[in-house]
Amino acid sequence: MSIAILHVDLRPNADHEAEALASLDGEERLRWQRFQSPSAQRRYALCRAALRAVLCREIGCPNESLAFASATHGKPFALVDGQHASISFNVSHSGNHGLIAVAPKGRLGVDVEERVPRRNLDNLIEGVCSPREKAELESLDGGQQMYAFFRLWTIKEALVKAHGKGLSLEVAELEIPEEMRRGAIRCIGQFAQIPETSWCLEDIGTKDFAAAVAHELSPSS
Ligand SMILES: CC(C)(COP(=O)(O)OP(=O)(O)OC[C@H]1O[C@@H](n2cnc3c(N)ncnc32)[C@H](O)[C@@H]1OP(=O)(O)O)[C@@H](O)C(=O)NCCC(=O)NCCS
Repeated sequence: MSIAILHVDLRPNADHEAEALASLDGEERLRWQRFQSPSAQRRYALCRAALRAVLCREIGCPNESLAFASATHGKPFALVDGQHASISFNVSHSGNHGLIAVAPKGRLGVDVEERVPRRNLDNLIEGVCSPREKAELESLDGGQQMYAFFRLWTIKEALVKAHGKGLSLEVAELEIPEEMRRGAIRCIGQFAQIPETSWCLEDIGTKDFAAAVAHELSPSS
């Protein structure tokens, strides 16, 4: 099943921000006002406007007909003239990079993380990784360890976001399949915590950021 991935440039640009803000609806503008920092406002407005543009194109509806609502655990879905639209999407932003994933159907999650040094890397590894993943990361030196950790982290976060039930999944127990831990770009994964579904996991990172997409496989794919 085809997934479209769109990169959104989130670097400061007053003209783009003004144009983006103008395409948001009243509820989105209220949310925009509540962000504490200009950079959080910028990330939200630019990503949401880009999401609006791509969904309007895919669905074939005018921007004014499109709105968003959130499922129980916060995952947004699209409404067209008040009706739930049958299209899958997910958004992630980190630093100057936004990513939008869109597919015709199937639960979908995307995650991006700028590869910037974190002071609390050991705590993150402890909280996010399985014992086997931890042992593999501990065998790597500083730079390689950070690179491998961000890769693992974004794959897990994409899966959590695709699943759409927030913290109900125990992230450390979602062990990423061995072939992918060893460097494969994509694989099919099954997880005991989500027995009903298989997932297509793909590393879409670049030299600037770690990123991954997770997509639910339908029985016919
Ligand atoms: C809500 C959550 C998915 C947001 O993740 P984040 O890394 O802070 O932010 P991202 O930039 O990747 O994603 C934010 C976007 O995800 C979407 N989103 C919000 N809630 C979501 C949910 N429950 N599920 C999927 N997507 C969600 C929104 O579109 C949001 O963008 P917007 O506010 O501009 O519309 C995340 O905080 C979460 O639930 N984490 C739980 C899993 C966990 O413990 N992970 C640890 C590392 S593996």
